[in-house]
Amino acid sequence: MFLTCGAVIYGVTMLAPAAAASAKDGEAVYTAKCKNCHGADGSGNPAIAKTMSVTMKPLGSQTDNAIKTAITAGTGKMKPVATVTGGDLDNVIAYVHTLKK
Ligand code: HEC
Repeated sequence: MFLTCGAVIYGVTMLAPAAAASAKDGEAVYTAKCKNCHGADGSGNPAIAKTMSVTMKPLGSQTDNAIKTAITAGTGKMKPVATVTGGDLDNVIAYVHTLKK
């Protein structure tokens, strides 16, 4: 269920079977649950970084596991986003990879 190859998924999103992670579906999850803090392009919302006194690294190049852990367990000053589970989790991970510059 947990896909380790986000790059491949990114390339074939439109052709991926329904069960596979979908970056396209993940975009909606990202917009709803991550964008306020991480910005539309994943570079980080400067106001949030300032409020939380933290340097936010751009999203995209983290491993699947690092992203998953950040969402389910939190990382540093980021609290877990408990409302993202199951397929949404895989989808948003796939989407985060598309933010890589
Ligand atoms: C309330 C604001 C907030 C929300 C919502 C949020 N994050 Fe974060 N996130 C942060 C902050 C702040 C950090 C930096 C934490 C630190 O370094 O102490 C961070 C760090 C991360 C990191 C680690 C980056 C790195 O390389 O160090 C990942 C991955 C991440 N977030 C993914 C996500 C995803 C995916 C979502 C949506 C499901 C999300 N975050 C929602 C605030 C947020």
